[in-house]
Amino acid sequence: MKNVLRLAIVDPDDASRESTKSILLGMDVVWLEAECSRYDFFSDVVAQTHPDISLVALDGDPDRALQLVSELQLTSPDCAILVTSSSNDGNLILRAMRAGVKEFLTNPVQLNDLMAALDRIGDQRFGGGDQGNRGCSVIAIAGATGGVGSTSLAVNLGCALAENEQHSVVLMDLDMCLGDADVFLDTIPEYTLVDVAQNIARLDITLLKRSLTKHSSGLFLLPRPVQLDDVASVTPEDLTRVIGLMKASFSHVLLDLSKSYSPLDMAAIEQADHVLLITQLDLPSLRNVVRLMMSFGEIEGLKEKTRVIVNRTGLQDSQISMKKAEETIGTEFYHRLPNDYRVMIEVRNNGVPLIEQAPKAAITHAVRELASKLSGAELEAVGETGGSSIVSKLGGMFGGRK
Ligand SMILES: Nc1ncnc2c1ncn2[C@@H]1O[C@H](COP(=O)(O)OP(=O)(O)O)[C@@H](O)[C@H]1O
Ligand SMILES: [Mg+2]
Repeated sequence: MKNVLRLAIVDPDDASRESTKSILLGMDVVWLEAECSRYDFFSDVVAQTHPDISLVALDGDPDRALQLVSELQLTSPDCAILVTSSSNDGNLILRAMRAGVKEFLTNPVQLNDLMAALDRIGDQRFGGGDQGNRGCSVIAIAGATGGVGSTSLAVNLGCALAENEQHSVVLMDLDMCLGDADVFLDTIPEYTLVDVAQNIARLDITLLKRSLTKHSSGLFLLPRPVQLDDVASVTPEDLTRVIGLMKASFSHVLLDLSKSYSPLDMAAIEQADHVLLITQLDLPSLRNVVRLMMSFGEIEGLKEKTRVIVNRTGLQDSQISMKKAEETIGTEFYHRLPNDYRVMIEVRNNGVPLIEQAPKAAITHAVRELASKLSGAELEAVGETGGSSIVSKLGGMFGGRK
């Protein structure tokens, strides 16, 4: 499932080695296999530990470092080489490339540059596809109308995914005005999406994780802004960058959307590998599913990555059968969640997730089943939607915030 890249680093400068290491240690797509402060022993270390990548800092002694790169080509030809330097000297870059270097990063190493370099190396190592290499699944939870159960699902799915100790899961509350994911988790977060978005340039993954609230289930939460005034300060570009940072350190990024299909919601949908569209078996919701799917159909790849989930099945006053509903929306429901009014009210009012509050309830079972379906191999990522921006195409289509 997850392809972790094993990496060995050599850098004689303690400060720059520590700074690169702190970025690497926060990324669960990288395993730091070995570290060295001297060029002399590094090729032996690599020969013994067989990392996928050697990261060689050139600045300590560029000539010796490039000689080491040539040695590594001979002794460990399968190991990709990435070098870092604070120099922009074209001659040095050329020499590095000639010595067989795959990637050249400028010191101090920036997270985004490192991620992009690792992506390219991962692509060569494990074959194409962003998802497979990075091992991160971005799941947007959208709803066909207000109160349909999106937040209930987002929070409880997040907790169910976090039960697996191989997962690291974050939930971002993108219902910017009325979001209530923090209430479901009974937390009073210190920082919100606004703080993270405003400081994005200064954040590394360690700081990012410190800005999040960790629930006892293991789920991390990034809540919506506290002040309504702050809502407009987060742009779709900011959000895309925050999601990018999250992708670097979590195996699952859950996005609880608002129901306005605003440019921010659409930016989130664009970033998502899977979109879960929640509906209930009533006519207004089903009609909205049809409308939404029609609009989604205009954007390359979006309809294909959208799964419709029906919530509150078995509600007595529902007059529309499952079969009729599926005929109406023209697709099968990907998953069904039973109605359980009492348990769901308890879950919300007590701020305790389903897996704790009602571990044996049918609704909990259904949420866990969805979690394993989503993390299972059967759900291949659709990947990037490519080229055109959804935000620009659909921005405001549903009257969302500009
Ligand atoms: N499967 C379910 N059975 C019964 N009640 C549910 C179910 N899912 C959600 N609810 C209830 O529906 C209400 C709205 O849920 P919420 O998750 O806040 O919706 P949304 O985020 O789509 O607005 C809440 O009171 C919640 O307890
Ligand atoms: Mg909600």
